[in-house]
Amino acid sequence: MDLPLAESWKIKMIEPIRKSTRSERERWLKEAHYNVFKLKAEYVYIDLITDSGTGAMSDRQWASLMIGDESYAGATSFFKMEETVNRITGFKYVLPTHQGRAAENVLFSCLVKEGDYIPGNSHFDTTKGHIESRKAFAIDCTIDEALNTQLELPFKGNVDIQKLEKVLIEHNDKIPFIIVTITNNAAGGQPVSMQNLREVSRLAKKFNKPVLFDSARFAENAYFIKTREKGYAGKTIKEICREMFALADGMTMSAKKDAVVNMGGFIATNMEEWYEQAKIKGIVFEGYVTYGGMNGRDMNALAVGLDENTEFENLETRIRQIEYLAARLDEFEIPYQRPAGGHAIFIDAPKVLTKVAKEEFPAQRLTVELYLEAGIRGCEIGYILADRDPVTRENRFDGNDFLRLAIPRRTYTNNHMDVVAVALKNVFDRRNSITHGMAIEWEAELMRHFTVKLKRL
Ligand code: F0G
Repeated sequence: MDLPLAESWKIKMIEPIRKSTRSERERWLKEAHYNVFKLKAEYVYIDLITDSGTGAMSDRQWASLMIGDESYAGATSFFKMEETVNRITGFKYVLPTHQGRAAENVLFSCLVKEGDYIPGNSHFDTTKGHIESRKAFAIDCTIDEALNTQLELPFKGNVDIQKLEKVLIEHNDKIPFIIVTITNNAAGGQPVSMQNLREVSRLAKKFNKPVLFDSARFAENAYFIKTREKGYAGKTIKEICREMFALADGMTMSAKKDAVVNMGGFIATNMEEWYEQAKIKGIVFEGYVTYGGMNGRDMNALAVGLDENTEFENLETRIRQIEYLAARLDEFEIPYQRPAGGHAIFIDAPKVLTKVAKEEFPAQRLTVELYLEAGIRGCEIGYILADRDPVTRENRFDGNDFLRLAIPRRTYTNNHMDVVAVALKNVFDRRNSITHGMAIEWEAELMRHFTVKLKRL
């Protein structure tokens, strides 16, 4: 008999978590204007709001904190981080930033002008924010199949090459670069195939455009290439990473995901011109070029985390946990973006709350119901997060409306996943009694989901 698969680590330190009562949760959520971002974390039992900065560091990462070099300039910690990024990505120039959106801010300040077009695959909300706040346009060229949650495709995060080519032809002189997000978070943590990255790169060369990878979950993308794409089963994750990055000219990185640190990020590139410009903006916004918003100790932990999380066993443990939760949801026939993604399960809210009109934000209502049911905090990646169209100011209902359950790395066990699955089943069982959603009472102009005030209808 084959041995079952267990975690590739054991636990050395724990953090107690607490349950609450339904009436407490009713009160807390009302005080939070039905926006789970406004809840105190201590009011949450199982926190699946994000997998960003919420992972458990390894003993080697914690040990590396003690020997961080906090020198203002030229810290050994920077060179450790730089060497690791060079080795894993093949990019020569490395500029630290305090997190992923800071990397976007620094680089886009150099590259994005008013009226520009930035084609890509489902730009993440901060990426879109950094484009739209500069009065440029983020053009989503994700394959149409990604919208159909029930379709099983191995690489549902892919770029539609025809759509991309059309944008490149129509707006050629207004396109500073193409961005590819690996894995594609907004489409459900779905991977992009090596074949697709190759096609993007070929097209970019034809139009003489650089390619930037938004790389927050690049290691998870490499895992899917290894396990799903023909010809990669025998390659190591690190070999696959080098091959992926060879198809890009640069990357922005939120190290809070696949480097398993609580804070950190960077820009890496082989384009000297990008690096020279970014250095200047980096100093103004983030800090000197060898720390850019990070502590020496954090750069050490980032280096160790990147190395560890580009090993197969670590990724396998993680992604199997997402698959475990997916299998439990299958048992209860709860619809989610199929197949399960790399970092999260995305519940297809309009398919659950079929009686709630899209104008009443079904995914936000489901987020609210799950919290009230069991103190589990997911988050809406849907119509509220999509913001309004910058030109027409209409709500954007053309994408998916998901309740995302993001699983922090190495943090919860499968027993927690069972609680999540059963809580969701309880909500699912009473779905037909939920006929109304939410209404917005106040919203910000951009990235409204963080601060929106809502009421329950
Ligand atoms: N790119 C992607 C694909 C992301 O998922 C995120 C963050 C960022 C960039 C920005 O990085 O948070 O370090 O500034 N995603 C988190 C999430 C917040 O919950 O999905 P950051």
